[in-house]
Amino acid sequence: MKNQDNQFKKVISHAKEYGYIVQSSEIYDGLGAVYDYLQNGVELKNNIRTYWWKSMVQMHDNIVGLDSAIFMHPTIWKASGHVDAFNDPLIDNKDSKKRYRADVLIEDYAEKLLIKANKEITKAAKRFGDTFDEEQYKTTNPRVVKYLSERDRILQRMSKSLESSDLADVKELIEELGISCPVSGSKNWTDVKQFNLMFGTKIGASAENSMDLFLRPETAQGIFVNYLNVQKSGRMKLPFGIAQTGKAFRNEIVARQFIFRMREFEQMEMQFFVKPGEQQKWYKIWKERRLAWHLSLGLGKENYRFHKHDKLAHYADAATDIEFKFPFGFKELEGIHSRTDFDLKSHQEHSGKKLQYFDHEKNESFVPFVVETSIGLDRMFLAIFSTALQEEELENGSSRIVLRLPAILAPVKVAILPLIKRDGLPEKSHEILNTLRLDFNVVYDEKDAVGRRYRRQDAAGTPFCITVDHQTLEDDTVTLRDRDTMQQKRIAIKDLKSIIEQEVSMSNSLLKMIQLSKTKE
Ligand code: GAP
Repeated sequence: MKNQDNQFKKVISHAKEYGYIVQSSEIYDGLGAVYDYLQNGVELKNNIRTYWWKSMVQMHDNIVGLDSAIFMHPTIWKASGHVDAFNDPLIDNKDSKKRYRADVLIEDYAEKLLIKANKEITKAAKRFGDTFDEEQYKTTNPRVVKYLSERDRILQRMSKSLESSDLADVKELIEELGISCPVSGSKNWTDVKQFNLMFGTKIGASAENSMDLFLRPETAQGIFVNYLNVQKSGRMKLPFGIAQTGKAFRNEIVARQFIFRMREFEQMEMQFFVKPGEQQKWYKIWKERRLAWHLSLGLGKENYRFHKHDKLAHYADAATDIEFKFPFGFKELEGIHSRTDFDLKSHQEHSGKKLQYFDHEKNESFVPFVVETSIGLDRMFLAIFSTALQEEELENGSSRIVLRLPAILAPVKVAILPLIKRDGLPEKSHEILNTLRLDFNVVYDEKDAVGRRYRRQDAAGTPFCITVDHQTLEDDTVTLRDRDTMQQKRIAIKDLKSIIEQEVSMSNSLLKMIQLSKTKE
């Protein structure tokens, strides 16, 4: 646990030191759970968004984009269920005065049981070697059975209590499990209460004419209310999707995990409209396609897992999270939800406007069903950034900090470094810089010894350094250094563009994604 905390602290301080992320309004002591992206952060964020957009919109004939407004008619949030049901159960510790999400306290407890079971399984796998049958062990080893069945019992009871709004039982469960406040260690809890997460604001210039609005808590509703506009103007045939990226706002109760849980964040969502009855097929396909997108970035298969929901949101008939191994353990990164026809039907009822699809072959109209994929851009940023940050022992006994960002996402692709600051090397470096910057984000650095400049670029995540030396002036070659292997090759200047392009272009990763996604429509 201590190691995890230390690693997470390093991630946060590195993000600040290398121009990625700082707390919002820092000079005024900051604003809780709101963050600003600096010069490198904004580039990485833009690149993640572009990679998602390309894979969703550009790579599919039947998915189009949209950019809807953040301000929307307030009845939308009544229709979507957010006014009545977008709540989190909160609980306060009377001694530390700290506020927690009651469901998260219970889930964390359950996760510890899973960790204990997995430890037993790993030990047994080592002991039995090739003959080990994990499935059999899970159902026969008394300790593992006890841990896993206790975990299931706890999660099922919590789901049932939350679904039936039995908040007294949620508190009872916390007390029965002996869960204590992580800060004070005390078990002195208040009752559990529901808390609506939407931020309110007003639109209109005068008090009499103003209207109460909400800042959107998800981008999805902007897609639903434009379903018919897009379907008609684009002559879209089912199945088809609408994708959008944009800000969402939630007044989160617990906001102590850097950009994992923010009050202002960005989502990348896609609603896929299908014929009723086909939602299960598409739900399965989208689970697989989204995992393939993640795996194509090369962060390691072992860092992902699916987590099927026992407790379903008010709109869903099936839901799964793609969880990622963050520095503080496996947590939700993306949600894939089969949202039925709930949203379109509800908007039909509240607006009085038909939101249907006319099937020419069958000569009938119906409300389409929807499968949604929804990922937090900031959470994806954290997944990539925290995995990429590594401290490495080198052969000569020294160590280096390296930010192994996937090259296709790295903010700066190339740093150009003249070996020394004279003899025409800076001028030659600028010539190369001015050519390469037409295609890539490139920086120039002449300060300090070249070794220190390499370390600086390693820590900033730059995949390539080009060093311009005296030989460059004679034969138009440079050295190209690879961030990850630290190997240097002598390259002709005229070949630089194609070599770098090969590594930083998104096309190879998109092809990998297609290969990884086995299911065809
Ligand atoms: N439209 C469905 C929806 O909004 P969600 O599971 O509430 O579903 C989807 O959110 C994704 O948005 C999450 O998987 C997560 O990546 C991201 N997300 C949600 N709340 C967030 C927060 N407070 N801060 C950062 N990201 C968040």
